[in-house]
Amino acid sequence: MVKTVGLPAEIKDGERRVALDPSAVKMLSHSDIVSLVEKGAGIGSGFSDQDYRSVGAQIVDTAEETWSCDLVCKVKEPQQSEWVHFRKGLKLFAYLHLAAAPALTNALVDTGVEAYAFETLTWPKGHPLLAPMSEIAGRAAAIMGAFHLAEGSGTLLGGASGVPPARVVVIGMGVAGTMAARGARGMDAEVTGVDVDLERLYEVHEQKIVTSTLYSNHHNIGDAVANADLVITAALVTGAKAPVLITREQVQSMRPGSVIVDLAIDQGGSVETSKPTSLSHPTYVEAGVIHYCVTNVPGQYPRTSSRALSAAVIPRLLDLARDAKSDRLAGSLNVSQNRVVHPAVAASLQAGYETDIS
Ligand SMILES: NC(=O)c1ccc[n+]([C@@H]2O[C@H](COP(=O)([O-])OP(=O)(O)OC[C@H]3O[C@@H](n4cnc5c(N)ncnc54)[C@H](O)[C@@H]3O)[C@@H](O)[C@H]2O)c1
Repeated sequence: MVKTVGLPAEIKDGERRVALDPSAVKMLSHSDIVSLVEKGAGIGSGFSDQDYRSVGAQIVDTAEETWSCDLVCKVKEPQQSEWVHFRKGLKLFAYLHLAAAPALTNALVDTGVEAYAFETLTWPKGHPLLAPMSEIAGRAAAIMGAFHLAEGSGTLLGGASGVPPARVVVIGMGVAGTMAARGARGMDAEVTGVDVDLERLYEVHEQKIVTSTLYSNHHNIGDAVANADLVITAALVTGAKAPVLITREQVQSMRPGSVIVDLAIDQGGSVETSKPTSLSHPTYVEAGVIHYCVTNVPGQYPRTSSRALSAAVIPRLLDLARDAKSDRLAGSLNVSQNRVVHPAVAASLQAGYETDIS
């Protein structure tokens, strides 16, 4: 039974979110769970220490004190300087993206942390703790793509009288891809939605979220990408390393100054030329194409993101605090008793971890 929950301040580059807002902390207080909030943890999202104190939280001076709680709830995967706090039996509830993070996985496995990942929780359907951030990242992808096209090829998404609109290709028409497509359509671009799920392609076409659809395979993606001004990737297979859908050769076929926004970078990236970037240094140019590969896109909209995340997390956090074996946590347990127990994560890491999902 969890009696104390720690809320450390986020330390990833540019990250200003907090996992729980004061309304969620109040729900913990009502369930007789003590919250230890690191001083200033909510500031970036517009929540003062006094806001947390007034709903029953204890404000503590150091991250270390929050990590001494039974359970730590945070936004992003622990950064290397935080690994020193790992200990046997500690429950961790956060975005982890372990398929793309072997060193972090080893640290969790070696120390015996019970690690629950937001992004692999699948009850009752979809990814209820990933979806709110995918919604925001998708909207942001269209904005960031449009912004960086100005410094790249100098193309305006909507075109002008006598000039056709820009061509945007969105790969993966789930939550993030749909929002990205809506954003690009809202700026009057021509948008092609790509997916392996034909039913989903029917829906987004029928709802006029895209101007055209394309079945996802190597050949079709090659053609679409070669003619695109902006490519946004948002394909996901739960827990697994992102499928690489765009090869280096296909990137080289793009017009110089085109832009790729690889949202799937948190799962390892869907473009052969992608590598993770930060909010401080979000882009780099390779093969003449601007790559935007930020792993915490919603972190730049903390007021909106923290409230959306907190609303999704708090019911599951209460479930976890009461009964870690609850069905409502299905899929979230990634590391337990010194082993990787999520099969897709284990398979992607190819580290020969023994899997046990019983
Ligand atoms: N970089 C960031 O800051 C950030 C923020 C939020 C989400 N994300 C990432 O965005 C990605 C998408 O998340 P989501 O919530 O939209 O997922 P989702 O499950 O809602 O959608 C994924 C879509 O990908 C499709 N897909 C799977 N394999 C495919 C393939 N080979 N080709 C084309 N489409 C394929 C699925 O059919 C589905 O429609 C995830 O990797 C997620 O972690 C990144």
